[in-house]
Amino acid sequence: MSAESNQLDALLSESRVFPPSEAFRAQANFNDPSVYERAAADPEAYWAEQAQHLTWFEPFTKVLEWDPPHAKWFIGGKLNAAYNAVDRHREGPRKNKAAILWEGEPGDSRVYTYDMLGREVDRAAHMLHHLGVRKGDRVTIYLPMIPELAISVLACAKIGAIHSVVFGGFSAKSLRERILDADARVLITADAGWRRGGQIPLKANADEAVAGTAVEKVLVVRRVGEASGAKMTPGRDVYWDELAAQMPKTPYPAEPMDAEDVLFLLYTSGTTGKPKGIVHSTGGYLVGANTSLRSVFDLKDTDVFFCTADIGWVTGHTYVVYGPLTAGATVVMYEGAPDWPHRGRFWEIVEKYGVTIFYTAPTSIRTFMKWGPEIPAQYDLSSIRLMGSVGEPMNPEAWMWYHEHIGGGRAPIVDTWWQTETGCAMIAPLPGLVAAKPGSVTRPVPGISAAVLDEEGNPVELGHGGYLVITKPWPSMMRTIWRDDERFRRSYFGKFPGVYLAGDGARVDEDGYFWVLGRIDDVINVSGHRIGTMEVESALVDHPAVAEAAVIGRSHEVKGQAITAFVTVKEGVTADEALAKELKQHVVDKIGALARPEEIIFTAELPKTRSAKIMRRLLRDIAEGRVIGDTTTLADPGVIEELKKLYKEND
Ligand code: WT7
Repeated sequence: MSAESNQLDALLSESRVFPPSEAFRAQANFNDPSVYERAAADPEAYWAEQAQHLTWFEPFTKVLEWDPPHAKWFIGGKLNAAYNAVDRHREGPRKNKAAILWEGEPGDSRVYTYDMLGREVDRAAHMLHHLGVRKGDRVTIYLPMIPELAISVLACAKIGAIHSVVFGGFSAKSLRERILDADARVLITADAGWRRGGQIPLKANADEAVAGTAVEKVLVVRRVGEASGAKMTPGRDVYWDELAAQMPKTPYPAEPMDAEDVLFLLYTSGTTGKPKGIVHSTGGYLVGANTSLRSVFDLKDTDVFFCTADIGWVTGHTYVVYGPLTAGATVVMYEGAPDWPHRGRFWEIVEKYGVTIFYTAPTSIRTFMKWGPEIPAQYDLSSIRLMGSVGEPMNPEAWMWYHEHIGGGRAPIVDTWWQTETGCAMIAPLPGLVAAKPGSVTRPVPGISAAVLDEEGNPVELGHGGYLVITKPWPSMMRTIWRDDERFRRSYFGKFPGVYLAGDGARVDEDGYFWVLGRIDDVINVSGHRIGTMEVESALVDHPAVAEAAVIGRSHEVKGQAITAFVTVKEGVTADEALAKELKQHVVDKIGALARPEEIIFTAELPKTRSAKIMRRLLRDIAEGRVIGDTTTLADPGVIEELKKLYKEND
């Protein structure tokens, strides 16, 4: 873990501490420090208490059944996620409160009150029912960040159908792979999406993706219109607005779901080439999401919550849709890029809507730093009272910049560690109780037991690095991998029996604060998005010119990590600039733009052990310019000098 160690040494010399202000502490939802001990002493009681913030059609009779690695929470309880996120607010004083303040990239905007949102969700539920969707069916959603995305998600939940949202930046092939794995019957997409003034051809990708799959119906939102050139297949495709106009204007009854019924699947990258369909439950997931809004984000009824993540990622599921809406918040949803049409777009949105809580990723903060503090300085950001970060370790410089230039030196920062698999924030400060240290995610939230273990499964000594694990089940934990329970057992519970292995390295300091070091498996974190080295390698070797490929993540100033691919070509192939370009595009076509390699380095040989395993760690050392240590396990040590030379030339 040498790269991480270097970074960690820098982090550990970080001694600044930012305790909550008296004023913040006094008004915080969670301001009694005994909550930590109470929750640790009886986590089930703590979670059962938090579960009371949801509306249950039928109360649960037992809190937890733990048969490692399988947990069941809130047994016997019945509820509906859409009812909790929308309908229950329509019945009370929040009826006419803004639920979603939506800002389109070209400058159009829409406001949905809870009542309006509820009517849209009902209509969409009627549409899905009309298209044959029933409880337990899978619906794949491939939409831009438009209100119909949140509405589709909630409509599935209302019916009891399982949604699988696929980020709009994924390619047709990635979409197809996810549709096939989930065996989806219906796909919801748009004619096209807007991105930096250009178009993303969602419908064209969808057409390629659904051919020969179980998808019978494609529901198409008109976002771009005529200019998209989208083609409709009669009998299969139907426009959202046309079908909606034919639907009854009556409420769609919320399906009472068992707490353990599946709410959604969300695909994420693992260490093999095949993405994993992470399965989340209805009751436990919602309790986790809802609790973290009230605890970590100190959410009040008066807050305007802006999470910049796309709903295509888990952050958007939990912190754009289910968390803030079940808590009755006003959510800001933005369709586009942070620099379109100008670099002050986020701050313009904060000013326009009076955003009080702002949640983004370190890669964005580093980008804002590069653009300069004079950009946010042009806007009134005084409404911001709390800020969050997620996706990768936040370097202390980024923390300080965020604190000063966005938070006005006033707003606390919650650095939240969690994963697609964990459902909601796991290690993060409660902002009224825990002092922040720039670069640390501080301590596990109440009800969560985290530890750092060594190879043998013992807690590491103070200051030593090890495996980040969660030692007890928690409500919003993934339930399994869709149709691959064996992989679930192996990947997450195979190393330490009964203990959840996160796949990250971490250290704990003398105050019990956690410092996350990054992934310790073959997963790369590019701008807070997970990409498997194997996925990119498979895409590369799929190209006829490529013999072998080894892919690594090297540190990158803005993206956190960037993808470097070392490639050997087949006999007779000319490895030149043009081929490198072609290979990068090939990866984009296979996976999506987020997986585009930053650089491709052609080499005659890859460094391998005598048992023919590619030594990726060595490649990382080369790419990050480190001194190479012991190479005695290499089959051919000469390879190293050659690679170092090649990497320099490429620089
Ligand atoms: C991986 C999970 C769920 C949030 C979005 C990413 C890294 C996440 C932090 C943080 C350091 C972090 C970890 C984790 N990560 N948050 N605050 N500090 N690292 O979700 O795609 O499932 O990725 O993101 O490496 O394992 P994801």
